[in-house]
Amino acid sequence: MHNKQILVLGGAGYIGSHITERLSAKGYKVIVLDNLYSGHIKSIDYLEDRVIIADITQKTLHEVHERFGKIDGIIHFAGYIEVGESMKNPYKYIQNNISRSAEILEFMKDADIRSLVFSSSAAVYGDKNKGKITERTRKKPINVYGLTKSVFEDILFHYDNIFGVKSICLRYFNAAGASHFRNIGEDHPNESHLIPLVLKTALGQRDTINIYGDDYDTPDGTCIRDYIHVDDLAEAHIFALETLMEKQQNHIFNLGVGRGYSIKEIIDISKKITKIDIPSKIADRREGDPAILVADCDLIFQKLGWKAKYDINDIIKTAWNWHSKNPEGFKDLKK
Ligand SMILES: NC(=O)c1ccc[n+]([C@@H]2O[C@H](COP(=O)([O-])OP(=O)(O)OC[C@H]3O[C@@H](n4cnc5c(N)ncnc54)[C@H](O)[C@@H]3O)[C@@H](O)[C@H]2O)c1
Repeated sequence: MHNKQILVLGGAGYIGSHITERLSAKGYKVIVLDNLYSGHIKSIDYLEDRVIIADITQKTLHEVHERFGKIDGIIHFAGYIEVGESMKNPYKYIQNNISRSAEILEFMKDADIRSLVFSSSAAVYGDKNKGKITERTRKKPINVYGLTKSVFEDILFHYDNIFGVKSICLRYFNAAGASHFRNIGEDHPNESHLIPLVLKTALGQRDTINIYGDDYDTPDGTCIRDYIHVDDLAEAHIFALETLMEKQQNHIFNLGVGRGYSIKEIIDISKKITKIDIPSKIADRREGDPAILVADCDLIFQKLGWKAKYDINDIIKTAWNWHSKNPEGFKDLKK
């Protein structure tokens, strides 16, 4: 058992709730702060009074600190995540993902907390990449969401230089799948991710799944992405947090599997797993969708010894288990 106390910001969200589950299972004392903008209290209700429903501000963070005592590390998932919305309402994203996030750094500096693990994104890289993307690939975000992640990474660099606040930024590719350990899974209010949309189509909640473009320069013409199981992400966060608390070194790591699947392949695998003939139709390309986004994950393996354990079949099987058991997501779960 650990006696370390970890504050998880955005811990009622999709990825945060899976990390909270793993941290708790490993014996960490976890506190979640979440404003429930897109999170679900039912995903972490076992934490009881260790869940604080509030916006991130220096004031609320100091209150949490006073109430619970020493905080050994912070994991920061709390952000807005919709690329399309970020291009319609950039200020909303700048305000939450940069300005509010800076409140955390001011709090950490004042409260002398040195370790932050930050949810960054492959969206920092942009769309002109050939082959696998390494952490040295130039950052060139093409949407405001990616820009906010890139800017916050740069702010972290300066908060280390000036105040010694250390961080590990994890640039996730496509997070997917559902927990192997608890009845929790993906339930975003305006779902835009491919696998839940495909499975909701299988459940008959949608008529068809749109394939945005089948004339890309890929073997079957559809876009290729790197899907990583959310339980693999959880383990990577724990490796990162433990390394950070122990060694106090900054890092930036890609988090993916290192293998890509096309949209058509995802639909075909989903048809096999669900045994349902999922209807799809070809639609126009979307602005700013890169043909291929696949991570080179060697760096995190070299530095932390972490490697993904689960493959695309595990991802779609666990997601199907979650969606078919809970077609309305957390609404289906009893308190
Ligand atoms: N899902 C992916 O594939 C993916 C890929 C790359 C990066 N990310 C990043 O990972 C993080 C988590 O993503 P997710 O899919 O779990 O999203 P999510 O929307 O399910 O979780 C975000 C959580 O943060 C909370 N939140 C947002 N703003 C807040 C604020 N100001 N104060 C308190 N709580 C706040 C929300 O209520 C929600 O519970 C995000 O930062 C996202 O940008 C996600």
